[in-house]
Amino acid sequence: MGLTRRAFLQAGGTIGVTAAFHQSSTRAPAPRFRTQLQANSLARFVDPLPIPAIARPDGARTSPLDGSLQIPYYRVPMRQFEAKLHRDLKPTRQWGYGGTSPGPTFEARSGKGALVEWVNDLPAAHFLPIDHNIHGAEKDKPDVRAVVHLHGGKTPAASDGYPEDWFVPGKSAVCHYPSRQDAAMLWYHDHALGINRLNVFAGLLGAFLVRDEFEDALGLPRGKYEIPLIIYDRVLDLASQLNYPVSPDPQKPWTPDVFGDAIVINGKMFPYLDVEPRKYRFRVVNGSNARFLHLSLSAGLKFRQIGTDQGLLPRPLELEKVFLAPGERADVVIDFAGGGGANVVLKNDIFPVLQFRVGKGKMTDDSALPQVLRPVPRIAESSAVRTRSLSLVEVDDLKQRPQMMLLNNAHWNMPVTENPQLDSTEIWELVNTTDDSHPIHLHLVRFQVLDRRTFDINAYWSANQVRYKASAVPPGPEEMGWKDTVRADPGMVTRIITKFEGFPGRYVWHCHILEHEDNEMMRPFDVLPGK
Ligand code: C2O
Ligand code: CU
Repeated sequence: MGLTRRAFLQAGGTIGVTAAFHQSSTRAPAPRFRTQLQANSLARFVDPLPIPAIARPDGARTSPLDGSLQIPYYRVPMRQFEAKLHRDLKPTRQWGYGGTSPGPTFEARSGKGALVEWVNDLPAAHFLPIDHNIHGAEKDKPDVRAVVHLHGGKTPAASDGYPEDWFVPGKSAVCHYPSRQDAAMLWYHDHALGINRLNVFAGLLGAFLVRDEFEDALGLPRGKYEIPLIIYDRVLDLASQLNYPVSPDPQKPWTPDVFGDAIVINGKMFPYLDVEPRKYRFRVVNGSNARFLHLSLSAGLKFRQIGTDQGLLPRPLELEKVFLAPGERADVVIDFAGGGGANVVLKNDIFPVLQFRVGKGKMTDDSALPQVLRPVPRIAESSAVRTRSLSLVEVDDLKQRPQMMLLNNAHWNMPVTENPQLDSTEIWELVNTTDDSHPIHLHLVRFQVLDRRTFDINAYWSANQVRYKASAVPPGPEEMGWKDTVRADPGMVTRIITKFEGFPGRYVWHCHILEHEDNEMMRPFDVLPGK
């Protein structure tokens, strides 16, 4: 097969971590891989799907941006805890916001937002393997560090969770999320430089819903009929503990990406959900470190996708499959009416991962699924004042093993090169010279996908020139909404367009495969104050 190991896995291949290392390395795998739990041997659908609690404010405070506005204030500790991922496993040590993983779901009103004091109440030692060769995770840095980013939030720079703004146990940070943006499902997760992949793998993630009147008026399923599905994969050992894989080379424990066979949804493996025969709205986020999700339904059922990363689509799309790269979200409606008594299964690739047990009987469904949702006016390319060509590069060693990934051949510590003016529109061309798809995420902004186009990689390296090999492919209909994370597919130039609105200051853009992000595939960018 002419695919690399990672391309194979991204396309839905399901080799385990052990097999993956056999393929990519001539060394014997470290003994710890033999202790890996075979998740697919566990009984399916024995645990009910947990629904993360809605975060409850600990009072109100004056908005830092508007003295006449009182906004909810939350205080959320990050804690180590133990919880069972499956009925037949022992409790698994995890880290979570508020002592659960996923953490509580925030519900914020557009234009009002929230103040959150994130408290680092984690233990003094990390329980996952830190690679001190990684920049920002050197031996002189404390092992346990954390900083929270609200993914998709239009957030002032000081509250955005800059990767170097981490804080240690005993410290806290107050972040202001003004939420001056359309209704959307955002999510929050750790972003500490050099160990982000470990902190998120440990469980530091959760959902954050922005709501607005426009969306309220649509009458979509709500309350107990609106459910977040926070999906990620994990590797477990035979003692039911998180088993973050390391490379067989003890000098360089970093591994280029992690694919676990334990698919966890809202904190349980292979759960079930009792549903009524009616419409439900599911807010789906791919919170995996590296796994791309390919979701489908049994029994001939289809998804009706109503929204993307940054809010509603112009109209619902009927889809058999929902494809989500790490960091991406899909807002979908599933109608269980008519399937009374039959069970429906949500599959990832070929594996059932969640069972819907559809109740019998007639239900009154007072929710709506309007045929027109929210207009998404296309940004005119002519409004862009600048086009930046930005390469995605993998640096390999002599054995052709990945050593690090770079954006535009630059390291994290090099001077800022992307510096748009506030309120200006730019086109970014993501020139992917690697064999893998990289989900590229920009903080602060929402963008639109213009197109993708294959180019000649050899000519790119030899002549430093993008030579296109075919005509441009428009984004799929499910990508025609507002996005904050986009697949930059291998051998293609992916073009996005965005207006740098909101706040000036320093932000980051990066690949959302967390192993890549931690190992140099992240760069700062500056939004310069307008003239
Ligand atoms: Cu989901 Cu920079 O993050
Ligand atoms: Cu990447």
